[in-house]
Amino acid sequence: MSSASAKIILFGEHAVVYGQPAIAVPVSALRAYAEVVSTDVEQFQIIARDLNNKAITFDEHEPLLKVVHLTLERLGKTIPDIAIEVRSDIPIASGLGSGAAISTVIVRALADYFVFFLSDEIVNQIVFESEKLHHGTPSGIDNTVIVYEKAVYFVREQAIESIKIATPLKLLIGNTGRTALTKHAVGDVARLYEDKSTNAKQIVNQIGIIAEKARVALENGDAELLGKLMNENHRLLRDLTVSSNELDTLVKVATDAGAYGAKLSGGGRGGNMIALVSDETQAVVEQALLDAGAVSVVSTILEATD
Ligand code: PMV
Repeated sequence: MSSASAKIILFGEHAVVYGQPAIAVPVSALRAYAEVVSTDVEQFQIIARDLNNKAITFDEHEPLLKVVHLTLERLGKTIPDIAIEVRSDIPIASGLGSGAAISTVIVRALADYFVFFLSDEIVNQIVFESEKLHHGTPSGIDNTVIVYEKAVYFVREQAIESIKIATPLKLLIGNTGRTALTKHAVGDVARLYEDKSTNAKQIVNQIGIIAEKARVALENGDAELLGKLMNENHRLLRDLTVSSNELDTLVKVATDAGAYGAKLSGGGRGGNMIALVSDETQAVVEQALLDAGAVSVVSTILEATD
């Protein structure tokens, strides 16, 4: 069975589309899986089970079709009469990279079926193509962090840089329960960015500076500074119109309850926020998020790198 993790963007979403750096990390506890469940069907099918365990038909999912065709092209194969079952713990349209994770596991399941090795680099290229159908103009950060499953400092169209993390950091991921399409938020930011009467360009540049500072703070294990940078990054994303009342509320209650800092993560307008906590504040921040309406809170540890 092939599997891929979810991801969260710690710093730099949206600005990354315009060439600014961003930092993203995998969330290994939330995963998508794919497995060939039958080699004896009349025609190729993908059985996708959503969180309610309901089968979704393949035709509804154009990006998956694209993934299959691109993979077969790479493998030099024609479409096989097999059924691939896809499962995922990752909430969809919530800023956790569900689309990229599902595409990744389908590419790997097909390669495994044909007993063919595809490098992460090639898998990444294929998944990036499918991301274009989800997002329109993706920066490539989602597919990169998910395919390589490691923390990255990412600048569009540049070689991927790993990131040093000095001390383990605890994050809570609070889900607003509201789904939102990244494509819409990205499109609205593009309109602001093109409109010279707004200060969107400056905001994007400021977000880039925050991501650079955050890299240094991660290397130094400075949780206090990281928290401040998260708060500042959230304010700038709000100015870019990609926050929402629910996200603002969860960010505020998290910091009021003692988190070092908090921000929305991913496309915004809904989906998830993240809060950086300590061992001491974790429980109280988690409860505060749930009391303020988070439908779920997942905790994840950003492990220190060697
Ligand atoms: O909503 P997500 O998790 O797919 O994140 C999108 C990140 C953006 O920076 C908003 C878009 C992109 O392509 O990088």
